[in-house]
Amino acid sequence: MVTEPIPLDLEPLHPLFGARIRGLDLGKPISGAVLDAVVEAFETHSVLVFPDQRLDAAGQVAFSRNFGPLERAISRQADAGPGLHVSHLSNVDDAGGIIPPDDRKQLFHAANRFWHTDSSYKPQTALASLLYAVEVPSTGGETEYASTRAAYRALPPDTRARVEGLWAVHDFQRSRDLVAPNLVAEEVRRMLPPVARPLVRTNPRNGERALYIASHAVCIEGMTPEESRPLLDELLDFCTRPERVYTHRWAAGDLVMWDNRCTLHRGRPWDARTERRVMTRTTVVDIGYDEEPAIAARA
Ligand code: OGA
Ligand code: MN
Repeated sequence: MVTEPIPLDLEPLHPLFGARIRGLDLGKPISGAVLDAVVEAFETHSVLVFPDQRLDAAGQVAFSRNFGPLERAISRQADAGPGLHVSHLSNVDDAGGIIPPDDRKQLFHAANRFWHTDSSYKPQTALASLLYAVEVPSTGGETEYASTRAAYRALPPDTRARVEGLWAVHDFQRSRDLVAPNLVAEEVRRMLPPVARPLVRTNPRNGERALYIASHAVCIEGMTPEESRPLLDELLDFCTRPERVYTHRWAAGDLVMWDNRCTLHRGRPWDARTERRVMTRTTVVDIGYDEEPAIAARA
């Protein structure tokens, strides 16, 4: 039976995309009608902010599963239960002390400071990421979002023609190389060979097109990285112009869910030597994405 989605308490965050949804307790099971409305809002607004949540790992995982199967967190392979699917972005160690910013794991997270979309380099891309704020710094540490759907709409016709039919090669190593060389272990590199993906993606539900680029994009298929860089940089600059960016200033208890198919995001710095920032993330696999990815030869 098809029911009309029920209206949500929804408020736009930005003229082009994003919405805040109040009045839902994501730690409790939600009804089919509410879920339909949330899915509809996600497909329409690309970034959803749910303030005032109180979630543990099991609650975050249960809510996230409403949208599809979850990725396993790379660092949590040994975990059993819901923890297996929760990535910890934290500068606090198990004893409660602050981990220095130049620690290797913190450097890994530092790649989040570059505009990217999650998992574009994996064999299966990500539909959505859900990031929950446990502890936030008093200033800084925002997350910025850019709508590559709004960017596609605004592209000059000649640029649209130029990107039509092109594929970009995504490589995990590129984003880590931006931080420091040799951050990616050889075994991880072997697990994650570069993969080509269309530069323009179409939303299967509403037909909206979006640019699919990121700090992981190393080249256009068939071109060298040097030949590709001007176009990739031009597109990234265009997507992330201030008028297409929403800055999320976190409060503890916020859960932000974003559409990795049509947005970019990046984390902003904060005083990580003195202030704690503890976030947990779940990532929904995009099982509906059937564009055949081509494994690209390393250029
Ligand atoms: C992420 C991410 C940025 C941030 O969780 O995927 O990029 O601000 N986070 O923590
Ligand atoms: Mn990310």
